[in-house]
Amino acid sequence: MIPIARPDLGPEEAAAVVEVLSSGMIAQGRKVAELETRWAEFCGVRHAIAMSNGTVALMSIFAGLGLGPGDEVITVAHTFAATANAILFTGARPVFVDIEPDTYLIDAARIEAAITPRTRAIVPVHLFGLVADMDMIGAIADRYGLVVVEDACQAHGALYRGRRAGSFGHGAFSLYATKNMTTAEGGFVTTNDDRLADWLRLYRNQGMRTRYAFEILGFNFRMTDVAAAIGLIQLDKLERNTARRQAIAARYDEAFSDLPVGLPVTPDGRTHVFHQYTLEVGPERDTILAELREAGVGADVYYPVPVHRQAYIMERGLHADLPVTDRAAARTIALPIHPGLGSDEQATVIAAVRAAVGRHAASSRVDRTQPMARTSR
Ligand SMILES: Cc1ncc(COP(=O)(O)O)c(C=O)c1O
Repeated sequence: MIPIARPDLGPEEAAAVVEVLSSGMIAQGRKVAELETRWAEFCGVRHAIAMSNGTVALMSIFAGLGLGPGDEVITVAHTFAATANAILFTGARPVFVDIEPDTYLIDAARIEAAITPRTRAIVPVHLFGLVADMDMIGAIADRYGLVVVEDACQAHGALYRGRRAGSFGHGAFSLYATKNMTTAEGGFVTTNDDRLADWLRLYRNQGMRTRYAFEILGFNFRMTDVAAAIGLIQLDKLERNTARRQAIAARYDEAFSDLPVGLPVTPDGRTHVFHQYTLEVGPERDTILAELREAGVGADVYYPVPVHRQAYIMERGLHADLPVTDRAAARTIALPIHPGLGSDEQATVIAAVRAAVGRHAASSRVDRTQPMARTSR
């Protein structure tokens, strides 16, 4: 089976890990500090704070902003549940708005209607490697005095009008094994806010600036130097690997251009880093998916049950009417697109998709005629 994701790990990462192990200094130390400096430079922000994963990166930002019971945070349900969970862990409530039918990103035109006197923040998710409509989101946030927190867990290096994901508001990144760069588990916060950065450095370290002087109620959300050593090599490879993902996406786009499917969309002014390559294949999605798997293609669905339909969310009364989200959950598939995907493997994926879609989707050409508002294309 051609896997949906495969981390690009080689002798350089192995050597970097051995070097850290041999040094005897394996917990948070110099490698973490170096990785933070380089990630901040790469993203064009004042601070990057390494954390133990993307979920706690998000949650720590919300905690640092002082979110708690009675507060509302506007976000999407077409995401990994960690986005909503990180909000819920502070005691605040996620308020879900629908997505755009073609980019699968938060529909910024729907945000204003969801704002109440309790709203504190907007959390766009740069899903699959594409930055959301930050012009419109930033303008709304300014107008209503809201904070923007970018869930950039899938968008390492993605650009919006020349600026990197994670540089618009406070950003959270994941370095999980399948992400565009990895430390096995890990994450970053990016921010230009000196006070928040200082607070986060304390928070992730049990509240300590110096040993056993506990300044705030903190946690242990540190990254290890073993992980950071892997991350430094991964960062060296990021631009090359992003270019590989983009080249595979271009080949897929070309190969599927005559099929009755919805291709990924990249609005003008943005650079997609293709954490996922997602096709809308219509109502026969599950049959198509099963046939792809039979053909040895590890296609998958992100995400089959959207967050607003998860039992623990519904039990909390977080209802939402999200037809575009439901449609994406029912009709899309993601194809393998990792940087190590060989040309023959790409050809196998293409042949399998053409065959399965040809058999099942021909009669149901994808119609994305949902009303949309655009400021950024
Ligand atoms: C959109 C999104 N948000 C949050 C997370 C959470 O990151 P992590 O798995 O590193 O905790 C992930 C990744 O898994 C993600 O894809």
